[in-house]
Amino acid sequence: MERIFFINGHFVPASEAFISAEDRGFNFGDGVYEVVHWYNSQPFLLEEHIDRLIESAHVIRIELPWTKDELIEIAKETALKNNLQDDYIYMQISRGKAVRQHSFPVNIKPTLVMNTQPSAKPSDEVRQKGARVITLPDIRWLHCDIKALSALANVLAKQAAKDHNVDDVLYDRSGVGIVEGGSSNIFYFKDNKLMTPPLSPYIFPGITRGKVIEVAYECNFEVEEKVLSLPEVLEAEEVMLASTGLEVLSVTEINGRKIGAGVPGPIAYKLWQTYMQHVKEACY
Ligand SMILES: Cc1ncc(COP(=O)(O)O)c(C=O)c1O
Repeated sequence: MERIFFINGHFVPASEAFISAEDRGFNFGDGVYEVVHWYNSQPFLLEEHIDRLIESAHVIRIELPWTKDELIEIAKETALKNNLQDDYIYMQISRGKAVRQHSFPVNIKPTLVMNTQPSAKPSDEVRQKGARVITLPDIRWLHCDIKALSALANVLAKQAAKDHNVDDVLYDRSGVGIVEGGSSNIFYFKDNKLMTPPLSPYIFPGITRGKVIEVAYECNFEVEEKVLSLPEVLEAEEVMLASTGLEVLSVTEINGRKIGAGVPGPIAYKLWQTYMQHVKEACY
């Protein structure tokens, strides 16, 4: 079955899903996006993702002509039209189409695209052995808290992981430390405490990060939000990444060095299982 895209008010087959070559999303990456995981044909944390989409648009001063309820409705309709089961919906909003000029054009209508995409869950092998990652200098901008369409530094980082035959990267920001994964938030566990960097312009406020913190309290773990240095992360008992796609995933090797016992540990497993319990309650 051909996938159905929502584009500016219309549902069209993927083969007819086009936007203008003058769209500012194409010319400047001038827009924001979200991705939501559907499990068992039901969205997980849809409202939270839509809230963040609206907030990201607000921060870059795109005035949305859709209400929160309308965006939720469009997402659900896109899921239904695609018979979505265990997959993602991507929601992309650009400032719209206009003759190229950097500053905001007047009377411009934002472009909205929603489309489905097969979920890219970690392979069974990565789940069983844990992820191998490398650290990279963080060359991203100073607004990593916005889910911006312009993700060139992330694209290069993810390609570097592929080139080095590892599963992912950790961004190491000069003077700030290890801030997050290539497209995920980072946690480590040591001495009965879960650590993660605090919210700041250097990290993305992942919806999964928030859920994992909630789940950690539920599991009676102490949580501390603090700046993380590479040496302390390397000395952790366990390291994990969290995102809509990865859920909670153990990291067992950083820059060729084993973390803890070098195998996925019980804390990551407990957090993942409890997180998945929330998914079950919401979607099954
Ligand atoms: C850089 C970065 N950090 C964290 C996340 C995790 O966000 P979420 O949990 O909302 O999927 C993402 C997701 O795309 C990301 O790109």
